Amino acid sequence: MTHYYDKITGWFDWELINELAVQRAINGDTFLELGTANGKSTAHLAIEIAKSGKNIQLITVDIFGDTNQKEYVLSHLGKFDFVQVVKSDSIDFLKYMTSGDVVPKFKYIFLDDCHDYDHVLKEIDLAMLLLDENGIMAGHDFSNLAFQGVAQAVLKSFKSEDLKFSNLSWIYGL
Ligand SMILES: C[S@@+](CC[C@H](N)C(=O)[O-])C[C@H]1O[C@@H](n2cnc3c(N)ncnc32)[C@H](O)[C@@H]1O
Repeated sequence: MTHYYDKITGWFDWELINELAVQRAINGDTFLELGTANGKSTAHLAIEIAKSGKNIQLITVDIFGDTNQKEYVLSHLGKFDFVQVVKSDSIDFLKYMTSGDVVPKFKYIFLDDCHDYDHVLKEIDLAMLLLDENGIMAGHDFSNLAFQGVAQAVLKSFKSEDLKFSNLSWIYGL
């Protein structure tokens, strides 16, 4: 099982967080990624899951504004029967997942879609309802000055002592 994510165009640099999430996961866990784009980060996570031999489901969500982007993602991720690619606005998806009688729990949630302050604030609020009590939530571009809304929303949502950082990403639950 060989990694191929380096051949996909994208913004992925959180290998360590993905690897840690897979290490901590157990059979039956589900992961959620918001912000698929071309599936670079998803491809890394899918291969890590496959290599682990664990029964982990992975849902990745994107609004897929670019024509044919979902088809491209499916062309390389479709072979993983544990990966589900969903075309949706992330807030709509989270509202849907939190609205049923049974609210599913995710062991790992990674946020890498819209980086606007109001969006990230709402997203974290909803995603916390879905996070397993032993789960990890993380997100990209905390320390990217081009997206200051991310850091502002993350610091509004969590106590700073509950956060850890790796490259550009923030992590809660470690
Ligand atoms: C930075 S890219 C994701 C990068 C990807 N994780 C990678 O490894 O390269 C951000 C993605 O978020 C998606 N996006 C933006 N706003 C969104 C929203 N409101 N709901 C769902 N996806 C959204 C965009 O379509 C884009 O593909």
